[in-house]
Amino acid sequence: MASVDYLERIPNNVNLRENRRLLRALEEWQPRYLSWWNEVGPEGYQAKDVYLRTAVSVDREGWAHFDYVKMPEYRWGIFLAESEPNRVIGFGDHQGHPAWQDVPGEYRGTLRRLIVTQGDTEPASVEQQRHLGRTCPSLYDMRNIFQVNVEEGRHLWAMVYLLQAYFGRDGREEADELLRRRSGDSDKPRILGAFNEKTPDWLSFFMFSFFTDRDGKYQLAALAESGFDPLSRTCRFMLTEEAHHMFVGETGVGRIVQRACELQREHRTDDIRRFGGIDLSTIQRYLNFHFSVSLDLFGAEVSTNAANFYTLGLKGRFEEGKKSDDHRLHEATYPVTTLEHGQIVSRDTPALVSLNERLRDDYIADCQRGVERWNQVIKRHGIDVELRLPHRGFHRAIGGCAAARIAPDGRLVSEAEWQAKQAEWLPTGEDQEYVASLMKPVVARGQFANWIAPPARGINSKPVDFEYVRLE
Ligand SMILES: [Fe+2]
Ligand SMILES: [Fe+2]
Repeated sequence: MASVDYLERIPNNVNLRENRRLLRALEEWQPRYLSWWNEVGPEGYQAKDVYLRTAVSVDREGWAHFDYVKMPEYRWGIFLAESEPNRVIGFGDHQGHPAWQDVPGEYRGTLRRLIVTQGDTEPASVEQQRHLGRTCPSLYDMRNIFQVNVEEGRHLWAMVYLLQAYFGRDGREEADELLRRRSGDSDKPRILGAFNEKTPDWLSFFMFSFFTDRDGKYQLAALAESGFDPLSRTCRFMLTEEAHHMFVGETGVGRIVQRACELQREHRTDDIRRFGGIDLSTIQRYLNFHFSVSLDLFGAEVSTNAANFYTLGLKGRFEEGKKSDDHRLHEATYPVTTLEHGQIVSRDTPALVSLNERLRDDYIADCQRGVERWNQVIKRHGIDVELRLPHRGFHRAIGGCAAARIAPDGRLVSEAEWQAKQAEWLPTGEDQEYVASLMKPVVARGQFANWIAPPARGINSKPVDFEYVRLE
């Protein structure tokens, strides 16, 4: 009977009950996961009832069930999108062959690395955000960050499932390592740079959810094309959850922008810090920072790794199935922005090695649409300011532009100009102190911090002043 109980504690649609070996591996991993959650997951509120959605099925309608849950009791489960009968590999050297239901032996190491790199970002963001419940601008926002946190936890489960089900002993070791690395730890850092940055305040959190979770969307979409079918199905379901994270980011920044505009109009000045708002120029500097570190996550513009992932059928392009070329790309070229003899130029480059840049382009176009929606808010208030994505070469640590100093408008600048202007372009210590000074918790029902507007509507058709977290 004990094992039956246990099965109910790991909701799944992968027939865990039938796979004793996998079940045992997950049984051993689960307590380690929970100690990780308790040690570096959300600080405080773990014993409180939070109005959360839980995945209960994978069909398009009604996969989500909303109810009050204490976070450590969240039903982290394993969900794969429905399998597509007779699915074939859509690109690369194996194009047209049946999708693999098991790991092709010769790709084992490469595939494991891809899964570990994706998996590592999931617990990292939970660690980065762990203090933020303490300074939430409202119960609504507190609920939203906890929702994002438990789902990132579930994404870790999703990747650990793949590692434990398909990669044997190595996979089990990697699953444990995912719980051992720590965001920002100099000895055992998380794998990717942006996931070792701090998320010290809610403006940073919303920017992170907008820009960095969106990198996740594009990586997952490319992996959802994978010829390794279990990875594809796992990522397809994760994408449905990811959409909410970007909603939280976009509406969060949008509400801060809205409040900035309201204060600016009310007091007839853009110097709204005196009135407790976050001014649009500060928002622009945070945007510049988060956009640039998120661009680095896509890797170098020219990458033989990216070409290999594609040729081997492991990682496709964004919306591979909707593209009408040969899906092999041996002859094709793609324009890549790069630095040549001290100038930024666009060069036609073999398409296969340019796949990182292509995914980055899809990502930038998506970011741009969100920025335009924020600008609509500003425009509606009759304010003549526009938020802008900085040039893709601005403030990069990876890729061809990392070697140069590039202004947000794309001009190459001298080291002296960079030093002189940096405070206009990136968040300063003073900005960070100011934003930190606003981070006072607001937890009365229906109340919102002064620096952010209430949302247009509540979660799951509940009112905005719903008791999203029960503090009693
Ligand atoms: Fe995630
Ligand atoms: Fe996410």
